[in-house]
Amino acid sequence: MEKADDQQDNSMKVILLGNSGVGKTNLINTSVGQTFQIDSSVTTSGSFSHKDIKIGDETYGLNLWDTAGQEKYESITKIFLKKSEIVIFVYDITDAKSFKDLEKWISLCEEVIDNDHVCGIVGNKEDLYSIEQVKAETARNYAKSKKMQFKLVSAKDNPAGFIYFLTELVMEHKGLSKPEKRETIGLSKENHKATKNNQKCSC
Ligand code: GTP
Ligand code: MG
Repeated sequence: MEKADDQQDNSMKVILLGNSGVGKTNLINTSVGQTFQIDSSVTTSGSFSHKDIKIGDETYGLNLWDTAGQEKYESITKIFLKKSEIVIFVYDITDAKSFKDLEKWISLCEEVIDNDHVCGIVGNKEDLYSIEQVKAETARNYAKSKKMQFKLVSAKDNPAGFIYFLTELVMEHKGLSKPEKRETIGLSKENHKATKNNQKCSC
């Protein structure tokens, strides 16, 4: 049965996946207002931080789940992955292996999640573009082949970029990606470019 409007549950489970060191913890921490850590410790389990995102008149409460990138913690990550509604695959633009390994993280997602969800890919550490090992165009084409939204971000220099990406994925999950729907809820086309084609992601 559908919930009445005033009872609608606007909370969402968001999870970040990717190799150790790509910057998942820093992306989450800086997006909730904490300071960037140059020497952050390796995540060994999982935890979540809460972030509210306002879209039109609605406020969505996101539980941002941080996971461990090290392979030995994969079984714990699988448990956290269950029931996620938004999955963000993170690679480090200065680390080609972290990009190659996205395939592995996407397979893990395919294996575990059986509920309705949307996925996106972010290339973190955009501030280090002078030593990049993965061309943005390569990553963009890869994301397109997986029917996922894509964005370059920097936890260090521009947390707002990641928050913008979160907003895009919430809109996709809520079916608000079509320009005409954005106008209905009072969002201009200029501020929120439609970057996604409303097709299901491949995981
Ligand atoms: P695990 O917890 O092991 O899975 O790693 P993680 O993905 O959480 O990486 P974490 O956030 O701990 O960051 C790893 C290292 O990358 C740290 O030294 C951070 O300071 C650095 N780092 C994270 N994001 C950025 C960024 O946007 N720019 C730069 N220059 N460094 C970053
Ligand atoms: Mg971490």
